[in-house]
Amino acid sequence: MDILHYQKDFIDYLESKKWVNEPKNLYEPIDYIIKLGGKRMRPILTLMAADIFSGGYEKAMPAALAVEVFHNFTLIHDDIMDDAPLRRGKATVHEKWDINTGILSGDAMLILAYQYFENYEPIVFQKLAKLFSKTALEVCDGQQLDVDFETRNDVTIDEYINMIRLKTSVLVAAALKMGAIVAETSDENANLIYDFGLNLGLAFQLQDDYLDTFGDPETFGKQVGGDIIENKKTYLYLKSLEVANEHDCKKLEYFYSRKLDDNSTKITEVSRIFDLNDIPILIKEQIQDYTERAFETLSCMNISEESKVSLRNFGLWLMNRSV
Ligand code: IPE
Ligand code: IPE
Ligand code: MG
Ligand code: MG
Ligand code: MG
Repeated sequence: MDILHYQKDFIDYLESKKWVNEPKNLYEPIDYIIKLGGKRMRPILTLMAADIFSGGYEKAMPAALAVEVFHNFTLIHDDIMDDAPLRRGKATVHEKWDINTGILSGDAMLILAYQYFENYEPIVFQKLAKLFSKTALEVCDGQQLDVDFETRNDVTIDEYINMIRLKTSVLVAAALKMGAIVAETSDENANLIYDFGLNLGLAFQLQDDYLDTFGDPETFGKQVGGDIIENKKTYLYLKSLEVANEHDCKKLEYFYSRKLDDNSTKITEVSRIFDLNDIPILIKEQIQDYTERAFETLSCMNISEESKVSLRNFGLWLMNRSV
């Protein structure tokens, strides 16, 4: 089935829920971030996986909601940690309210996410909760590494890949596996779809890093250049250090060892070095490579051709996105 069909059904489900409660200052930010939109890719994956493995996805709605609410919680806290002003084209929660509000509304969302699992019977419930706890802790590990890397000047590309696996890929993979768990399919299927998600997640975060510098500010919805301002050791930066001449490497290291009040020169100069060294082409190759690896996992799976096409189309959609 079409990706947009799952997306629409999920959004209808989301909007049928009442998000605002007392105290308003706790729940209004939750309603705000949830309704700001986004691609809804993780719940789409949960629904798709359930559909593929059981021929239906209605029963996967609470699990899909858990993943999306958890994801939105991580965004609120991530925006505090990254000092980000914009999310989905609007002010971030901590900008619109304040940091304390962002912390507590985020905490409440993490708990809400767990509560949605109460819709499932004990065996499925336990499997979902177990996967979710493991995943949520890994996301914390990844987020801490991401922040640690800001002030390190010896980060390797392997370390970077491990960091994005933790902060991003495991949730994409878990979203798919949760669909497989709800569908009560074999462990083998559940693990293969998880592996598909891991590689897709790596491609997805590489694309996110690419867009952070090269996205269109009119449509991207986040502050373009935010990763440069924050000295994020992304693939763009690490690959540049590998291929650029000594002068440009020195310049990059200079800029990435300080925080500035005015970032316009830093952003222009760093983007220029990335461009000059064909980093956009090199990162696109990596994105393609991880997407292909994900597609290879598909060939090992015992599912219909039609299902494989749906998952492939999802991968292609992600790879070519501009948001
Ligand atoms: C943003 O995720 C955070 C990352 C892990 C890169 P998305 O790009 O899925 O954000 P929305 O939900 O579509 O806004
Ligand atoms: C965020 O990575 C990963 C999580 C939210 C766990 P980023 O910091 O790159 O995400 P964006 O770019 O702010 O959406
Ligand atoms: Mg961020
Ligand atoms: Mg971040
Ligand atoms: Mg990003």
